[in-house]
Amino acid sequence: MEKNITVIKGDGIGPEIVDEAIKVLDAVAKKYNHTFIYTDILMGGASIDVHGVPLTDEAIEIAKKSDAVLLGSIGGDTTTSPWYQLEPALRPEAGLLKMRKALNLFANLRPAYLYDELKGACPLKEEITQGGFDMMIMRELTGGLYFGKRETKEVNGELVAHDNLEYSESEIRRIAKRGFDIAMKRQKKVVSVDKANVLDSSRLWRKIVNEVAKDYPEVELEHMLVDNCAMQLVKNPQQFDVILTENMFGDILSDEASMITGSIGMLSSASLRDDQFGMYEPSHGSAPDIAGKNIANPIATILSAAMMLRYSFDMDKEASAVEKAIQKVLKDGYRTVDIMSDGQKEVSCSVMGNLIVERL
Ligand code: IPM
Ligand code: MG
Repeated sequence: MEKNITVIKGDGIGPEIVDEAIKVLDAVAKKYNHTFIYTDILMGGASIDVHGVPLTDEAIEIAKKSDAVLLGSIGGDTTTSPWYQLEPALRPEAGLLKMRKALNLFANLRPAYLYDELKGACPLKEEITQGGFDMMIMRELTGGLYFGKRETKEVNGELVAHDNLEYSESEIRRIAKRGFDIAMKRQKKVVSVDKANVLDSSRLWRKIVNEVAKDYPEVELEHMLVDNCAMQLVKNPQQFDVILTENMFGDILSDEASMITGSIGMLSSASLRDDQFGMYEPSHGSAPDIAGKNIANPIATILSAAMMLRYSFDMDKEASAVEKAIQKVLKDGYRTVDIMSDGQKEVSCSVMGNLIVERL
């Protein structure tokens, strides 16, 4: 098969980790007789430096015409980088949000899985993690607080800021359906997370999720308040299969879930719309403090590329082969510094990429 992939290397460690993912994709292409054609576009700080804006319309058009987008990471140090002297709409993150919205990528899948080999790097007690865990966080990605009206204005001599949290029935319904569809392919359990004891948007969320659930009688549905969910994630992560939640709660809970897998450097993500098109990126940030040192963990990005093979290109066996190669590398004792533990072999970002390619 021939596929066109838009590549956004981005900022910080982005270029290093994307290079490793492309190495792996090239190896997949060779082994399984595919052709991947890459087109680079700029987004985030890299785009600000060249174009003065974090994402141009031309870049969006290139992404739209491709079969999928592979993204590294964007953004810089928010206290020292000049990008953060700009008004909020011109900062790196605004480019990412604009891309998500322009491509209508409303469904964000963030799998959090505890590898046996990384149990030692998990900060939870062994008695909690001995059975492992395997969950999929389904985060709504184009609504809620991220895209509501926001404003800072002076009222009675002081500044007042507001951010609007809005969800429509249709926005909730489409992500809920996606969540239940994914649950049908997994353990058939959905925990829908909201703050229905306080927020109207959450009460609507719960109502629509209950309606959608009627079409999925085999799926067990539980509603959980977000504060309780944050607690349950560290108390008993094994109870979760699919966590279905809105944009801001999903942002926060997915960072928490990633940390209990041992390192945020392991968590991949896919952002999808109704068809097979998607954008694939690690859940972690651009880590400007370690950029250019060749020590970043490329596994989250490589796992994201595997998700691209599976969800956008229908290449299941290729995706599994990449996932197995990663597991093998871990089993063989190779670790980047973020997941390093006693008795293992520490390797650089590029060597980790090479080792995964070898095992393919
Ligand atoms: C993420 C990131 C982004 C988000 C930032 C960079 C805007 O934290 O993908 O989780 O909040 O969605
Ligand atoms: Mg986040």
